[in-house]
Amino acid sequence: MTNETELGPTGDTSGSFGFRPVEPRERQGLVNEVFATVAERYDLMNDLMSGGLHRLWKDDLIVALNPPRSAEPFRVLDLAGGTGDVAMRIVRAGGPGTTAVICDISPEMLEVGRRKVETASLTDRISLVEGNAEALPFADRTFDAATIAFGIRNVTHIDHALAEMFRVLKPGGRLLVLEFSHVDVPVLDRLYDLFSFEAIPLLGQLAAGASEPYRYLVESIRRFPKQEVFADMIRAAGFERVSYRNLTGGVAAIHSGWRI
Ligand SMILES: C[S@@+](CC[C@H](N)C(=O)[O-])C[C@H]1O[C@@H](n2cnc3c(N)ncnc32)[C@H](O)[C@@H]1O
Repeated sequence: MTNETELGPTGDTSGSFGFRPVEPRERQGLVNEVFATVAERYDLMNDLMSGGLHRLWKDDLIVALNPPRSAEPFRVLDLAGGTGDVAMRIVRAGGPGTTAVICDISPEMLEVGRRKVETASLTDRISLVEGNAEALPFADRTFDAATIAFGIRNVTHIDHALAEMFRVLKPGGRLLVLEFSHVDVPVLDRLYDLFSFEAIPLLGQLAAGASEPYRYLVESIRRFPKQEVFADMIRAAGFERVSYRNLTGGVAAIHSGWRI
């Protein structure tokens, strides 16, 4: 099953929804259905499926971002920010000048995020905006940094989203992408495949009452370009000093690039 996931050099995933071929214009609608279905259980499922590892990976993302502790304004776009986990971590790590805008295409995910931001009394530092990563509703050079965690894989035209993040970053601004990636550690890769294709859809069925969204999750991870290919896509969008770091043997990776 997994050997059909080899990607072309461009990393163009616009014609596939997981392993299923689709018309690019239909893909976003299918993705939106997934997140509308899972929104209320999203946070719980993240913990169950990753055994809590997503928390450590997000901690790594925040350490890489290193928001200033001062009152100096530092505006972060958390794209595909969903239920708000990353944005809340960013403003808590930063000083009083650090603010975040969560932008996501799913009203259902944003609604869960809105409730969490209110409960945490962070409405003065986090705002939520419905929008498509491929056509961001922000002016050029608005943000000091842009993060996207487990989101870029879901976007139909990844190159458009990267170009948009470049456009809305100020010169000197940084892009950080946390995404599932590709394991190349012998044995770990086999175990990871077994867990992904057998356990995750089953967990979805048991804990969230639906296995299909979780099958999409697993398949879309395998469809996502490998680390080096994705780094080249970031460079092609205009970013410089592009680098990446594998997490947990490549199960996830953080890619970084700067708008100089
Ligand atoms: C796996 S969730 C990640 C949520 C959050 N960043 C986190 O790490 O917990 C993926 C998110 O991407 C959003 N998304 C998918 N396509 C998008 C698009 N074209 N523009 C903006 N958000 C999108 C989904 O609605 C969903 O909230």
